[in-house]
Amino acid sequence: MIYLDANATTPLADEVWGAMEPWLREYFHNPSSTHQGGKRARAALEEARGIVAEWWGAREDEVIFTSGGTEAVNALLAGWDSVACEGYFLTSEVEHSAVLRSGQRMQRGMICCGVDSLGTLRKEEFAAKLKGAAFASVMAANNETGVILDWRGAAEMAHSQGVPFFCDAVQAVGKIPLEVGSSAVDAMAISAHKFHGPKGSGALYVRRGCQFVPMLYGGGQEMGRRSGTENVAAIVGLAAAVKLSAKKLATGAMDDVATIRDAFEAAVIRGIEGVVRNGDIASRLPNTSHLSFAGCEAAGLLILLDDMGVACSAGSACMAGKQKPSHVQMAMGLSEAQAKSSLRVSFSTINTMSEAQGAAMAVIRAVKKLRSVQGSGVGPVVIYTP
Ligand SMILES: Cc1ncc(COP(=O)(O)O)c(C=O)c1O
Repeated sequence: MIYLDANATTPLADEVWGAMEPWLREYFHNPSSTHQGGKRARAALEEARGIVAEWWGAREDEVIFTSGGTEAVNALLAGWDSVACEGYFLTSEVEHSAVLRSGQRMQRGMICCGVDSLGTLRKEEFAAKLKGAAFASVMAANNETGVILDWRGAAEMAHSQGVPFFCDAVQAVGKIPLEVGSSAVDAMAISAHKFHGPKGSGALYVRRGCQFVPMLYGGGQEMGRRSGTENVAAIVGLAAAVKLSAKKLATGAMDDVATIRDAFEAAVIRGIEGVVRNGDIASRLPNTSHLSFAGCEAAGLLILLDDMGVACSAGSACMAGKQKPSHVQMAMGLSEAQAKSSLRVSFSTINTMSEAQGAAMAVIRAVKKLRSVQGSGVGPVVIYTP
């Protein structure tokens, strides 16, 4: 199987598993216990916090460990909603459902800023809408298209208006630098399984002095901000993934991923007509390719590709299997046909150039097959102008 669905999740890196294993078996102790085992677990936890804080350019007391990206997003936004002054929650139309669903639950109301056809934030609209906002949120990179949004710029704009700013960086982590210390970002969420760490492990950065209201109450762990016995192995795994990803970024491994992704796209575009690359290709994650294929429904393509041993997604993993075109592609103004004919192919450092070439050949074969079937009257051939 050629695994090209890294934006859905990534395999655990050997180094990460090596770091985690002792904390699952031999050193199973509760970090709140006062005996030696507990102290050892506490030390591992705090060492992990130090690693994550340093990587973020943050202070250790600004890092809260969570059960993943969804919890980090929900906790932060629900907390701000409960204490913020009057005004609405301002976010973008292309956010992950963790943000959008959190916003939909708020009595204060949520207003979304649009994106252009490349999926980049409409900054003037964002600036105008900041005027009535109590707090705001813009993702670092979109999970479907890989487009990198100007989260630093949006944070600056929010700051200049005194509006607290949160960034969902779950899809960007490990792929681009995310230093927050010198930015105007007040809070940021990441998740370990998107960059070769374990599932069910995430972290939230909350700037010192910025309000945070816990979502979970109980034993007062995480400085009273996230109760529940800490998952030491998962937290150690998150820190190991952070270290590994920093090394990969510094040594150009993500540039190699981009080279592989670009070769895949070039081969597909050479091999068949009617292929459109969606999103801002000048500002996107190094690993993501979002392609539309005229005359092909992604649902059919996915089945054929799966049979050929290629795993990828239609839209986002969360939307896969649903018939509705994704809200992200609708926000970018793609036609329904184009949206429904798009694949998300997402690479990681486990992939090779020969896998990219093999996947491209498989995509070409699958598209040709589907077009020939649909062109023979079994289904409609939908032609759109890119
Ligand atoms: C942008 C974004 N935010 C939040 C999440 C949720 O993260 P988790 O799977 O860790 O709960 C995802 C997962 O796909 C995501 O892509």
